[in-house]
Amino acid sequence: ISLKPYNTFGIDKKARFFAIASSIDDFRQAISFAEKNGIELFVLGGGSNILLTSDQDKLVVKNELKGIKVTGSDEDFVWVKVGAGEIWHDLVRYAISQNWGGIENLSLIPGTVGASPMQNIGAYGVEIKDVFDNLEALHRKSGEIHQFQSPDCEFGYRESVFKHRLKNQYIITSVTFKLSKKPQLNTAYGAIQETLKAMNTEIPTVKAISDAVIHIRLSKLPDPAKIGNAGSFFKNPTISSAQFEELQSNFPSIPGYPNKEGVKVPAGWLIEQAGWKGRKFGEVGVHDKQALVLVNYGNGDGAAIEELSKKIQKSVEEKFGIKLSPEVNFL
Ligand code: EPU
Repeated sequence: ISLKPYNTFGIDKKARFFAIASSIDDFRQAISFAEKNGIELFVLGGGSNILLTSDQDKLVVKNELKGIKVTGSDEDFVWVKVGAGEIWHDLVRYAISQNWGGIENLSLIPGTVGASPMQNIGAYGVEIKDVFDNLEALHRKSGEIHQFQSPDCEFGYRESVFKHRLKNQYIITSVTFKLSKKPQLNTAYGAIQETLKAMNTEIPTVKAISDAVIHIRLSKLPDPAKIGNAGSFFKNPTISSAQFEELQSNFPSIPGYPNKEGVKVPAGWLIEQAGWKGRKFGEVGVHDKQALVLVNYGNGDGAAIEELSKKIQKSVEEKFGIKLSPEVNFL
């Protein structure tokens, strides 16, 4: 079948086999089918972080494990266990309706709950690891469910153990979040403060923060239903302070945010300065309001987007000596 409806880039590539899993046993069956047929099994969430560059000689399984359940609560916190196939923003909306704090800054991120710890999704000063309690995952080899606490997940910037050491070994089935009944709002981002002001919000609430984030995202990021994309295509690179200072002498306006490893530089700025913002190449291109987002205007090909991404990497490296790494997973 065509995977076009199942990836937010809207790339028309096929899967040899396709299944929908709405129970853990469905996944167990899918695993044995793949084993018997000697093919790979790929678990699809919202398809919002993949780039299909060719047809898939695989079994693609759409994760539709559902359910949002409160599993614990005390004076300050509530523990919410969520099926991996739930839509991320549905969970955010539910939390906001209960006035639970912790994920309002992560409003409107496309994709599913199960994919969120995979790459430790983040936006506007918050990452999933800040509200993560534990997750359960099906061990493909043994068919057992294993529980992972936060340290087991080895969270980093857009990273977790599931992208590295344990890649393709587990299927995330549920995630438990620890949300706050006494929300501590994170308004550190300048854009959030400006938007709250423009919205005349004097005392912010989780709802107000969510509205502000939604407003900012809608103004910068293309709606995948209209223009195919997968959000940020590259990660924001961290370079050494020495390299940053050297760049500053040639490019005085270069933005940089110091962190433990050095200085984080916005990839969107590098790509814009290299002259790519808003450029169109047939059916694919670079978004005109956010240079970090590559887009498919309709009938674009995954290979064309990959090619464009390579050209961008090359030109950014030539101009700034910085190698960008993709955030999106190529398939
Ligand atoms: N910038 C430009 N030109 C551009 C885009 C950005 O100069 O075309 C510069 C500006 O200096 C701007 C800065 O980059 O102030 C940061 O831009 P923005 O706030 O849009 O955030 P980002 O660093 O480009 C990251 C995440 C986003 C997340 C936002 C908000 C990554 C790879 N991306 O983007 O996450 O929503 O911060 O916190 O870390 C995603 O992962 O798919 C994603 C959208």
